[in-house]
Amino acid sequence: MVSVATICNSINYIQAEIVNFVTNLISTNDLRLQFQIGDKTIQVLNGISFEVEAGEIVTVVGPSGSGKTSLMMILAGLEKATSGEVSVAGQNLLKLSEDQLAVFRRQSVGIIFQNFHLVPTMTALENVALPLEFAGHSNAMTQASEILDKVGLEDRLTSYPGQLSGGEQQRVGIARAMVAKPKILFADEPTGNLDQDTGKRVTDLLFSLCRDQGSAMMLITHDPHLATLADRQVHLQNGHLS
Ligand SMILES: Nc1ncnc2c1ncn2[C@@H]1O[C@H](COP(=O)(O)OP(=O)(O)OP(=O)(O)O)[C@@H](O)[C@H]1O
Ligand SMILES: [Mg+2]
Repeated sequence: MVSVATICNSINYIQAEIVNFVTNLISTNDLRLQFQIGDKTIQVLNGISFEVEAGEIVTVVGPSGSGKTSLMMILAGLEKATSGEVSVAGQNLLKLSEDQLAVFRRQSVGIIFQNFHLVPTMTALENVALPLEFAGHSNAMTQASEILDKVGLEDRLTSYPGQLSGGEQQRVGIARAMVAKPKILFADEPTGNLDQDTGKRVTDLLFSLCRDQGSAMMLITHDPHLATLADRQVHLQNGHLS
């Protein structure tokens, strides 16, 4: 018997696909984020209005503490904005429940963190298969092994994160974020913990996978060179985007 929640999720999904077809992938209007610490208010995002099209690659630069990670967390459905409008892949994120946000993340979003965030007790293959298993795919291991092949780790499938170098761990992170072919990939300084050469190989890989799969990417970086590879660069400063 099909549950009401499954039917609602399917309707949301179909709705999102239709809206996606005719509008921007990401659209925010007057987005604000503030934190209250005691009687002090920290205004992090101060009215962000911007769009990202399907398949577009945008780099985000800005000083430390300017709110880059916070903005990414809101767009990825991991944090709630204080006010404003935010629509990603046809979903109004401020209106979704926690359960609906989890479905949204599974269906539309891939995330790569600076410090990899791999599960230490799982092999490379198991780490990459995890999001597909959560989504109920029957051939999770085959798909995981195929994408690990693409990132050049075909002979490290059974290695644990602790047995891999930083660059290899980040390639597992990329494979895990891309395996479900997300509409948008969020990458938060993915090369921040890697040496220059390894970092370049990792970013080349990220760009080519996104271009191949048609995924949009929002890439937070301190590397001005990457701007030349992206479709567009935005600057975040004092809570404003330009
Ligand atoms: N949960 C929180 N409570 C209070 N303040 C927070 C919280 N999360 C973030 N901040 C503050 O919001 C501001 C923006 O933080 P954020 O991590 O988004 O910056 P960033 O641009 O990613 O910086 P970096 O380049 O150093 O990673 C910072 O001043 C930070 O201290
Ligand atoms: Mg950050």
